[in-house]
Amino acid sequence: MVRPRAHVLQMEPYRPGKTPEQIQHELGLNELIKLSANENPLGASPRVAEAIQEALCHIHRYPDGACQLLREAVSDFYQLPQDHFVFGNGSDELIHLIGLAYLEAGDEVVMGHPSFVRYEASVQLNQAVLKRVPLTNDYRHDLPAMLAEVSERTKLVYIANPNNPTGTIVYRHELEHFIDLLPDHVLLVLDEAYYEYVDHPDYPNGLDWVRRGAQVLVLRTFSKAYGLAGLRLGYAVARPDLLDPIERVREPYNVNLLAQVAGVAVLRDQAHVARTRELNRQSLEAFQQACEQMGLRVVPSYANFLLIEIGAHCAQVRQRLLQMGVMVRSGEGFGLPHFLRVNTGTPEQNEKFLRALQQALASLK
Ligand SMILES: Cc1ncc(COP(=O)(O)O)c(C=O)c1O
Repeated sequence: MVRPRAHVLQMEPYRPGKTPEQIQHELGLNELIKLSANENPLGASPRVAEAIQEALCHIHRYPDGACQLLREAVSDFYQLPQDHFVFGNGSDELIHLIGLAYLEAGDEVVMGHPSFVRYEASVQLNQAVLKRVPLTNDYRHDLPAMLAEVSERTKLVYIANPNNPTGTIVYRHELEHFIDLLPDHVLLVLDEAYYEYVDHPDYPNGLDWVRRGAQVLVLRTFSKAYGLAGLRLGYAVARPDLLDPIERVREPYNVNLLAQVAGVAVLRDQAHVARTRELNRQSLEAFQQACEQMGLRVVPSYANFLLIEIGAHCAQVRQRLLQMGVMVRSGEGFGLPHFLRVNTGTPEQNEKFLRALQQALASLK
């Protein structure tokens, strides 16, 4: 019998959950509100439909393997040279490619815990060693403890800022100090998937370090505030010498044609991003206030989702919410079984969720 690579068999395959349509059908629901994947409740800019309509007559052709028009648009937007970008089929793909390009068996990778789970798969695939550093008591990255884990064998450090699933951030002065102390054999990957949402004066922009030529690679995505999760488009920003190994391992046509034109279109509609940010700000406030009134503790979030502490009956609450037509994420998969992670929705969706939560809690009393 043919034998796969032994360590691959030790990896857990990604098991996609049921789709909202499947759940709706199974539970006989007229409507299901999905607040479980940190997507944009406003959808993408209306300009995307136009751009895709125009591009449809080209889908029999391969896409541009250099993403040139998108590259020019992003380079112009950030005022950074064109060779400072690599695009991917979502930032998920870039996380995979970073592992392929940088990790040798036995190399160490330092990350916070809980943090974004996809970093772990790329560590396992490349037979590297994962060093998970628990978050602080207030659910923030513990940078001094992470630094203490950095050794001769460390190749990569991952910091999601804001962190998923907690929504907490690392402040500028903390990051500055951390980067200053990182040894030269370490690449810091700053995952800023929720960058556009953050409204805090001390929130650092990772691109400042890229501009200074630091050994930092920033990940950004079009899946969240730009509303293109279904098209899959993310990018890495770094010095060209840091991106070169990634260019060597990526597939020639890893970003499809429709994603490329959509990326250009959404970047040009910053008013849509501003509306998204404002709605999120109001929604977070509403969630926090309502949770406080219900006597529920939340982790203060700067992203488009919130961790709510439910307690021991968390799984039942999640199930009741589902039966009432609201889909949220259980913290169990992140090692936080007493928490629900809920992303912000439209005002109507938020209201429906909060009402359902109140009823679910009352029904368990
Ligand atoms: C911190 C973080 N990084 C990366 C991603 C992956 O985003 P995408 O592959 O859609 O660009 C996510 C998605 O949830 C995330 O939360």
